[in-house]
Amino acid sequence: MPDGAAGRPIRERAALIARVMVYAGVAAANVGRLDLAAGLGFLEALAAGERVPWVTANLETRDGRRPFPGWRAVRWGGLQVGVVGVTRPEPDQDRRLGIRVTDPVETLARVLPEISAQGVDAVVLLSNLGLEREKELARRYPQIRLIVGGGTYPYLPEPPVVGGTVILHAGDRGRFLGVLETDAASLREWSAPVNRDQEGVWTARLASAEARLRKASPDTARAVLNAWNRQAAAARAALERIRTSKVWFTHRIVPLSPDVAEIPEVASWVRRVTGRPSPGAGSPQRPGQATHTGSAGCRGCHPKVYRWWVSTRHARAYGPLRGKRPDPRCLGCHATRVVRATGASTEPAVGCEACHGPGAKHRGAGNIVGVPPPATCRRCHRGYHPNEVFDEEAARTKIRCPKG
Ligand code: HEC
Ligand code: HEC
Ligand code: HEC
Ligand code: HEC
Repeated sequence: MPDGAAGRPIRERAALIARVMVYAGVAAANVGRLDLAAGLGFLEALAAGERVPWVTANLETRDGRRPFPGWRAVRWGGLQVGVVGVTRPEPDQDRRLGIRVTDPVETLARVLPEISAQGVDAVVLLSNLGLEREKELARRYPQIRLIVGGGTYPYLPEPPVVGGTVILHAGDRGRFLGVLETDAASLREWSAPVNRDQEGVWTARLASAEARLRKASPDTARAVLNAWNRQAAAARAALERIRTSKVWFTHRIVPLSPDVAEIPEVASWVRRVTGRPSPGAGSPQRPGQATHTGSAGCRGCHPKVYRWWVSTRHARAYGPLRGKRPDPRCLGCHATRVVRATGASTEPAVGCEACHGPGAKHRGAGNIVGVPPPATCRRCHRGYHPNEVFDEEAARTKIRCPKG
């Protein structure tokens, strides 16, 4: 569909998403199929006006012009990283849109040597081709360290590693944020990276195999014993690899729930486009306005809830971290970040505002979330610890702040 036919809502939404991306400081964005439906002219205008950093190597106009750079160099953790994008060909729609989307495999064969010639330390691929094709690309082009897949559902809680390439998918429609941590050395020589998040899982598997072996009786069948021994050996080997490998990453998926603090500027764009407040938003807060009080600040008006909360494990969630230098990986779930006009601090507990959102100015309205949605709980209760079980329904019956 050429310009004009795409309709205003698609464009306004695309423009909004683009603005938010630029606002959030994204370094590169791949053109997706929905973006293309808004019209190439429109995307070019976004690149010029909003400075959207599109990178899509296999997109051409009918006369062979490439509207966007195929890749760009980005500084990341002291390294020079080449970020390249490829989008999915859909010949029928491409014809109607007046564009050509060339074969991703051939395109990469042309572009990757170009990138390497610029002396980058690592290559990252942005793709909407889907996991199977991405695995194929990872096998074919081992110089790609990281593939960030988009526009697909569901997200992958455990990123697959194909050779030296890690494939990440954080789901569609901006509902989740995928966070990858690694270091410069790992990114540069990402031979066969180990997922350090797996250490706990393998420790638990080893413990369970060993416990079974200990309990085995003389009647236990040989084949069963062999299977347990194999499990224990596999776990030991995996742990050895995780502990000795210097090439590593960790990864998590963070749901973006409506109680994420509202950025006033973004909220006003959403209102302008949709004519409605952004989902989950209360009254938007002005910059510099106090946002959190900490749980103690809720006590005066909600004494009964406070007394109940103090008796829950959430109030004691900081316990395991006490007396040590706080490990930043633990704070997001075992503590509450409290942002006030005077600066940010950490409340050593899963406080009221971890579930209800910032409440300094609420007095029963404002930003407070009355009934936190399940996504709020899943932000922390998502199986980070290997033996964790979370029965969502049962848990919610336990977390009922009393009236008063
Ligand atoms: C993604 C969220 C998340 C992260 C990150 C996290 N935890 Fe937890 N942690 C939980 C949840 C949820 C529970 C409760 C599990 C349950 O109900 O079994 C828990 C329970 C625990 C417990 C058991 C508490 C008790 O009283 O029995 C310990 C100890 C603990 N965590 C330590 C840590 C440490 C140390 C870190 C950082 C390395 C960490 N956790 C990171 C979510 C997290
Ligand atoms: C672990 C998450 C969590 C924490 C922590 C939490 N709440 Fe709640 N709160 C909820 C949920 C969930 C509901 C809705 C309960 C329901 O479904 O009936 C709720 C409901 C409420 C209500 C409305 C109760 C009613 O029915 O009138 C108030 C007021 C409230 N919470 C205040 C607080 C205060 C104050 C604190 C801290 C002292 C706090 N909450 C801590 C999850 C939490
Ligand atoms: C100055 C008094 C005051 C303080 C401080 C206060 N609240 Fe409230 N809160 C109220 C009143 C009054 C209501 C109920 C009236 C209403 O619904 O407008 C209420 C209602 C709520 C509700 C239910 C809202 C809903 O939509 O059902 C929640 C949740 C809540 N408060 C949480 C908190 C939390 C969390 C804090 C601390 C950050 C806090 N409150 C601090 C006075 C206060
Ligand atoms: C900011 C992170 C965080 C959020 C949000 C959160 N929890 Fe928790 N929750 C924890 C941690 C950490 C623990 C374990 C604390 C400990 O024992 O040290 C825990 C413990 C619990 C427990 C006690 C486990 C038990 O066996 O009794 C229940 C129940 C629970 N959470 C339910 C919920 C529900 C329901 C929600 C959403 C309304 C929620 N939590 C939101 C972090 C969180």
